[in-house]
Amino acid sequence: MTDTAGVGALPARGMPAADVLDEIRALRAADRPTHGGRLFAYVYDPGVAGLDELAQAAYAESAHVNGLDPTAFPSLLAMENALVGAAARLLGGGPGTGAPDVVGSVTGGGTESLLLAVKAARDARPGLTEPRIVVPASAHAAFAKAAHYLRVGLDTVPVDPVTLRPDVAAVAAAIRPETVLVVASAPSYAHGVVDPVTEIATVAQAAGLRCHVDACFGGWALPWLRRLGAPVPPFDFAVPGVTSISVDLHKYAYAPKGVSVLLHRDPALRAPQFFAYADWPGYTMVNPVIASTRSGGPIAAAYATLRHLGEDGYLRLAAATRDAVAGLADAVRATGGLRLMAEPETTVVCFTSDDAGLDLFVLVDELTARGWHTQPQLTYADLPASVHLTVTAAVAPRVAEFGPALAEAVAAARAAGPVVLPPELLALAGSLTPEALTPELVAGLADGLGLAGGAGVPDRMAVVNTLLDAAPARLRERLLAEFVGLLQRPAW
Ligand SMILES: Cc1ncc(COP(=O)(O)O)c(C=O)c1O
Repeated sequence: MTDTAGVGALPARGMPAADVLDEIRALRAADRPTHGGRLFAYVYDPGVAGLDELAQAAYAESAHVNGLDPTAFPSLLAMENALVGAAARLLGGGPGTGAPDVVGSVTGGGTESLLLAVKAARDARPGLTEPRIVVPASAHAAFAKAAHYLRVGLDTVPVDPVTLRPDVAAVAAAIRPETVLVVASAPSYAHGVVDPVTEIATVAQAAGLRCHVDACFGGWALPWLRRLGAPVPPFDFAVPGVTSISVDLHKYAYAPKGVSVLLHRDPALRAPQFFAYADWPGYTMVNPVIASTRSGGPIAAAYATLRHLGEDGYLRLAAATRDAVAGLADAVRATGGLRLMAEPETTVVCFTSDDAGLDLFVLVDELTARGWHTQPQLTYADLPASVHLTVTAAVAPRVAEFGPALAEAVAAARAAGPVVLPPELLALAGSLTPEALTPELVAGLADGLGLAGGAGVPDRMAVVNTLLDAAPARLRERLLAEFVGLLQRPAW
């Protein structure tokens, strides 16, 4: 086997297929485990035998089909319409509902769906020179990205540190004459909490505004949990003021990556989402979504996944996820020094610690060392640092092992003690401005923290997280962007 790290992708002589696959498999060995129910972020694993093989075969069938022109590839149009119909029906739209005209588009992911929801809202009001959107502080960062890309102002409403939801009166107060969109999450990513959608949509409707429900994360889980008897509050098109909803199929629909659906209550609301251009010598470009050329692979894979799992499959998977959430939450409650950020109501378990002797970032490293990959969340406003667990169906068979591992990891974290940053580093994190960061300073820091390019990311991240935690948001952004920039260097 050749060592592929630091080697460019184009050899002088082409390689046999088997060797190429060996290379990829060797590279993949360094990745976190995408299957097996021990990775609580990034991946959504149903643990269904044969599903991967089916999705891969479907992907391969359509990988070279181009979504650029639905008239050239009607197979893709048919599968997209089928996905949109399924999502709309699941989320309170379609024939026989109060929202019979729901239409939608298949996008490449949640961020793209949210960018397009913001674009549609912005372009529906062309007379406004400085459009703005109102989002709870717990809304996904993709709204900030949309605001940045689309030059739309972002008005953030704080969330209550106990309920982790925004105050509806504060949402109403944040609406200005330039506001084009009000946002609610169902649920939020960080804590898995469903915003008061009915109240927020009512406020938006009263102001004559669009209301987007970001159900990217949980939109494919909440309806099944509700059918199983969970007290899921109204969040979909059954709520009259909700004008658009996003739901990612590459999350709880368990499709391979690259598929989300953006739904609008009616075609008129969707119209400004499109981009069309005829003023050049080539083909008239008509794009409902951001990408122009799009592979049919992810769409076919998602279609196959939905067809294979069916409603009964999703109900079974939701039941397994619900039970896993309950089991993990019990493990947290049973562990001294830990506290749930919120009672789990969806598919997230999120905990923090009030115990000064227990450093959450060290705990995350100790869990990683034991094969449990959780996601640290930094201190934000008056919310403490926390540990996030996205729970999927594949976690269910692992739950019994988690409690003892958590107890062991907590004991090890206590024994190791909290990270103590050298005072000069702590002072730097508190006082440095993003503008004052020079490439040399960043390179020195990266070196000192073991993040220098080439070596990859170190196993133990507590020191890095502690440093970031001590820094204000703008500095965190800049530091991490610089670090990632150091990692993203060409292999020649
Ligand atoms: C609530 C929510 N919205 C949007 C997104 C962005 O989705 P993506 O990573 O597919 O762009 C996420 C991702 O976790 C999410 O949880």
